[in-house]
Amino acid sequence: MQLYERAMQLIPGGTQLISRRPNRVAYGVSPVYASHAKGARFWDVDGFEYIDWISGIGSILLGYADPVVDDAVQKQISLGTTYSVNHELEVQLAEELCRSIPCAEMVRYAKCGGEACAMAVRIARGVTGRDKILFCGYHGWHDWYIAANLSEEASLNSHLFPGIEPIGVPTGLAGTALPFSYGNLPELSDLLEKNKGQVAAIIMEPLRSTMPPVGYLAGVQNLCKEYGAVFIMDEITAGIRYSTGGAQQYLGVTPDMAVFAKSISNGYPMGMVVGKREFMEPAGRMFISSTYWSDTIGLRAALTTMNEVRLRGVPLQLQKFGAELKSRLTIVANEVGINVDCIGNDVMPMLQFNVNDQILKNQVVTLYIQEMAKRGCHGYASFYLNAAQGESELGQTLQAAKESFIIIRDGLAKNRISDLLECSVQKDAFKRLVK
Ligand SMILES: Cc1ncc(COP(=O)(O)O)c(C=O)c1O
Repeated sequence: MQLYERAMQLIPGGTQLISRRPNRVAYGVSPVYASHAKGARFWDVDGFEYIDWISGIGSILLGYADPVVDDAVQKQISLGTTYSVNHELEVQLAEELCRSIPCAEMVRYAKCGGEACAMAVRIARGVTGRDKILFCGYHGWHDWYIAANLSEEASLNSHLFPGIEPIGVPTGLAGTALPFSYGNLPELSDLLEKNKGQVAAIIMEPLRSTMPPVGYLAGVQNLCKEYGAVFIMDEITAGIRYSTGGAQQYLGVTPDMAVFAKSISNGYPMGMVVGKREFMEPAGRMFISSTYWSDTIGLRAALTTMNEVRLRGVPLQLQKFGAELKSRLTIVANEVGINVDCIGNDVMPMLQFNVNDQILKNQVVTLYIQEMAKRGCHGYASFYLNAAQGESELGQTLQAAKESFIIIRDGLAKNRISDLLECSVQKDAFKRLVK
């Protein structure tokens, strides 16, 4: 917290990512600064050890400091990383992506997710000659997206979180980014009809922790075809954790374009836009250019991560591990006698505290985060799995959950939840329409 106070003097907002602000967890109790990490765990600057159930905000898929990825990256570093000319890895990774991901026939690189989304949106606008983008969920910090809040209503309230002022976003972009609700095809169809001939793209996460309604994504795909809009899947979080060919392979719906970042390179900065040739090829005539997009650390990390995820069968491993975590947490909750369900797809499980009063529910979730942190488990009430988590993490977490559930159960019974909180209530985690 002392470091954070120093940061607040020098870094506007204190952190680089809103999800790393300490008020997103148990403020003053949860760890704020890491010193190092290995496998499924990290150590904070005070020397405390934590199991990391947020997995680098979803960017760590194989585990921290994975020996194979890190060895490949270190070898690459010793060869120099960014050159005056290009490197073969650009082509090798493109070939790998086109082999693995159903919609990929051509690719462009970036360094992070929001940037890749902005690139995909630029390409879609360039290809169609249209300006408007229909979106669902979170897609980064760039003008095209935050422009959604230039309109009267706060469009991002239910897609990100309430209270985002579009400060610094050109007012001329008002009306160019329009939100739609996940799962509601008639609403999307109406929106397309109202903006006929003006919509360049529909961008959305295909799924997060629950499966889409049957036929929904195929319906979105059909609407895109009907109205001439490019269908972009944002696979930055879902990525290759469900399947080595991405969520699109897992769900059997192939979009026109897709963006990948966080889960693809085991924590090394890397992003990419992949897509069908007819949509990607015109990007060659657009001004989309940056020095560090050829950086070989990200390219090497992504190529090695994709290879290792396939070799180690990570998607299946995560599915089995998540199913085990869910069923054992459910047993613990039943033993303790607390009304909490462990829900969500096996790859992305989450706890649902069944408390009717929303204010009390937020307090309960914060108390859970606080008590788990005290027992060496850093996380929210949801779990980002990675392949380094195993039986010892499961055992420690189940014991911590049992003790935390007992505290919550007794606190609820005695109406003492707020007394038990040693911190302010957790600020809204990113709300996403895609759960
Ligand atoms: C679905 C989705 N899109 C875009 C982003 C932005 O990615 P980045 O933080 O790498 O810019 C994220 C990050 O959480 C994301 O989950």
